[in-house]
Amino acid sequence: MAMEYSEKVMEHFAHPHNVGTLDDANGVGEVGNAKCGDIMRMYLKITDDEIIEDVKFQTFGCASAIATSSIATDMIKGKPLSEALKLTNQAVVESLDGLPAVKVHCSVLAEQAVKAAIADYYKRKGIPYESPCDGCAEGCCGHDHGHGHEHSHEEE
Ligand code: FES
Repeated sequence: MAMEYSEKVMEHFAHPHNVGTLDDANGVGEVGNAKCGDIMRMYLKITDDEIIEDVKFQTFGCASAIATSSIATDMIKGKPLSEALKLTNQAVVESLDGLPAVKVHCSVLAEQAVKAAIADYYKRKGIPYESPCDGCAEGCCGHDHGHGHEHSHEEE
């Protein structure tokens, strides 16, 4: 193998955790990698007291994207949103014992997808939230899910 991956990367790539979708997700984030065009979708089930009860991801990204998402989802599962928002791709890469330099851009997908999913959750709840996510392809933050917001006028 030309690329040098740590054992942890190989382990998470071979047996990724939290892969799939969540039917009852209340925060979904999709981001595209500006560098390679790969896509990541993150599903979060968040409790009323803002704990991430469950998380799943789907990606068309490479081995590094799979491994980073696997470990990133492990890192935020069961955690409050405030902690998940502090997740950085640097912390994710460190927990994997590093990534080849040319692959570090792949790890950004996980962090951005988590933040986009949290932004989506706040948006659904109608809570003002300034997304810390930037640099991702359109359709990530501030993305309107096309759910028509109907103004109902209640008559007295
Ligand atoms: Fe696209 Fe890794 S090359 S996510």
